[in-house]
Amino acid sequence: MNTVLIGAQFGDEGKGKIIDILAQKSDYVVRYQGGNNAGHTVEVNGTQFILHLIPSGILHTGTKCVIGHGVVVNPAALLEEIAYLESKGVHVDEKRLFVSEGVHLIFPYHQALDVLKEKRRGRDAIGTTKKGIGPAYADKASRTGIRLVDLYDEGRFYRKLKENIEFENEVFEKVFHAPPVNFEEIFHQYIEYGRNLKKFSCDTIELLNQAVKGKKTILFEGAQGTLLDVDFGTYPYVTSSHPVSAGASLGSGLSPRVFDQVMGVVKAYTTRVGEGPFPTEFKDDMQEKIRSLGKEYGATTGRPRRCGWFDACLARYSVLVNGMNALAVTKLDILGGVEKLKICVGYRNGKKTYSFFPHDISVLRACEPIYEEMDGWSEEIHHVRRYQDLPLATRRYIERISQLLETPVKIVSVGADRDQTIFL
Ligand code: IMP
Repeated sequence: MNTVLIGAQFGDEGKGKIIDILAQKSDYVVRYQGGNNAGHTVEVNGTQFILHLIPSGILHTGTKCVIGHGVVVNPAALLEEIAYLESKGVHVDEKRLFVSEGVHLIFPYHQALDVLKEKRRGRDAIGTTKKGIGPAYADKASRTGIRLVDLYDEGRFYRKLKENIEFENEVFEKVFHAPPVNFEEIFHQYIEYGRNLKKFSCDTIELLNQAVKGKKTILFEGAQGTLLDVDFGTYPYVTSSHPVSAGASLGSGLSPRVFDQVMGVVKAYTTRVGEGPFPTEFKDDMQEKIRSLGKEYGATTGRPRRCGWFDACLARYSVLVNGMNALAVTKLDILGGVEKLKICVGYRNGKKTYSFFPHDISVLRACEPIYEEMDGWSEEIHHVRRYQDLPLATRRYIERISQLLETPVKIVSVGADRDQTIFL
């Protein structure tokens, strides 16, 4: 069975752990979008791994990991991540990691532009991770991007890079009054990166289509979340790629016909990092409480995440645009001890009510959530491994989420470790 695993909220739903679990039974794990703006945290027997680019499947020796052409790759970050895994005893070689020759590369000028543009936006800043993701995807769309395969034709790479850097340096100087970047330095550095990555690079479209032909099990690892999708999210407060399930087809080169299951991961509450509308954001001391209990700090940037109640209106929208047919609910343990839990079931703006997620952020900003209240639970649930052993109130909460989202819950997570998981 081929599964696309996506974040159904604003990212940071705990996908890393669920991917790690599903990867055990997968032949291939594929990243299809985003870049090292992602941070997937996996805990194995008390040891923590934070992955940014390499699929979490790398922690299982029998799994092959693919970085599809829809991803934007900072080669320095990728090489660093390989070294980080090796230092923790995880062997990464060309039999396990395959990087598409077609990935677009992130250059130092992309990162510099990300920082300068955010600064210029002032109060309207998006709150990006400053990894150069947006500018790299912008170059891809404007057909000035440089791909991994370009590094293997020195003449072509030289011409393209020279043209880009001449242009960007003019922008740095004239628009931002910022220092230029050095062509020679970047050219030689990237040629070297190319050499180091050569053994991993291949035609992953062919590789994956062969895998499908061979009836292999493939898991697609979405990064970020649906509401950060450049088309389906709260534009412009989004990332520049397609975290939705359709992105798996676009970013891997496989037909939509190959996907059997779309599993959406929802956190038992909602979090968002960066700017943008967030209707159910806590306005009281719950903010600090959940943030510290849930360790809600960005895995990539360390920024504190904004926290709020579970938003079923938003998640229902996510179910529709992803075609979700399975749910994983994470971090239920964090809600223990909260006397009354709220779930947002719609929005109100004056006399108008919305049961469908409003697309326009000015409408969304003016909306007040309509809440339903449920009893919480005070029991400790970290140790529970069977659904029927969960407190009644916990089960009612899960079942209400499933009912509102019209989607069956298949996995419930009650702690960070691999085994703190309940399968339904
Ligand atoms: P960018 O992807 O760095 O351009 O950032 C755009 C928006 O997406 C910002 O609000 C970021 O905080 C958010 N974002 C990017 N990657 C992640 C992630 O992995 N988890 C949560 N938010 C993210």
